[in-house]
Amino acid sequence: MKFFLDTANLEELRKGAAWGVVDGVTTNPSLIAKEAVPMAEQVRRICEIVDGPVSAEVVATDYEGMLREGRANAALHPNIVVKCPLTRAGIQACSALSKEGIRVNVTLCFSPGQALLAAKAGAWCVSPFVGRLDDLGLEGMQVIRDICRIYSNYGFPTRVLAASLRSPLHVVQAAEAGAHIGTMPFKVLDQLFNHPLTGQGLDQFLKDYAKAFQGAGSGS
Ligand code: G3P
Repeated sequence: MKFFLDTANLEELRKGAAWGVVDGVTTNPSLIAKEAVPMAEQVRRICEIVDGPVSAEVVATDYEGMLREGRANAALHPNIVVKCPLTRAGIQACSALSKEGIRVNVTLCFSPGQALLAAKAGAWCVSPFVGRLDDLGLEGMQVIRDICRIYSNYGFPTRVLAASLRSPLHVVQAAEAGAHIGTMPFKVLDQLFNHPLTGQGLDQFLKDYAKAFQGAGSGS
């Protein structure tokens, strides 16, 4: 499973990229707004940090507007993936942009039926939101499992990008379900490192080593 960072924060992206485990980036209008830098400018900066697909979402809600914005976003950098919402206009724009060779991430997907529409429209990937379904008391991860199975039944090339992942457990479950990509906040990527036995084990190794060779080399 590819790891994408779900952030528009350059510091977080630099840290993640330095670890060598970040394959791409997803942004949305809320994440861009947090950084207070216009979308085009921020997305350009992101593309300089992470060498992989970078999703840039349109804010138009009508078909013509999405086409215009989608084409403009795609022209910013070869790594840009245009993000369109799973509305009627968004699916129509996805269909048209995909035919032009522009990669589209269909976002705000909450059901397998919606994911079928994204695949039929030629989306490069679909983004089902796990955490937001969990927030409603539903099992978001089941939607990921269902979409993976349906896409595999028919050989749809559309990738399943598990989004709204809120914990390391979500990341692991998305991988188990067969999601092609998991996008996560920096905090969740950082939490994936943590295991108390790793820290304890390392402390013990270093103590044993220091004890065995204490003073060694000082008398030569
Ligand atoms: O970028 C879309 C998605 O990952 C948002 O996650 O936690 O705001 O539901 P969240």
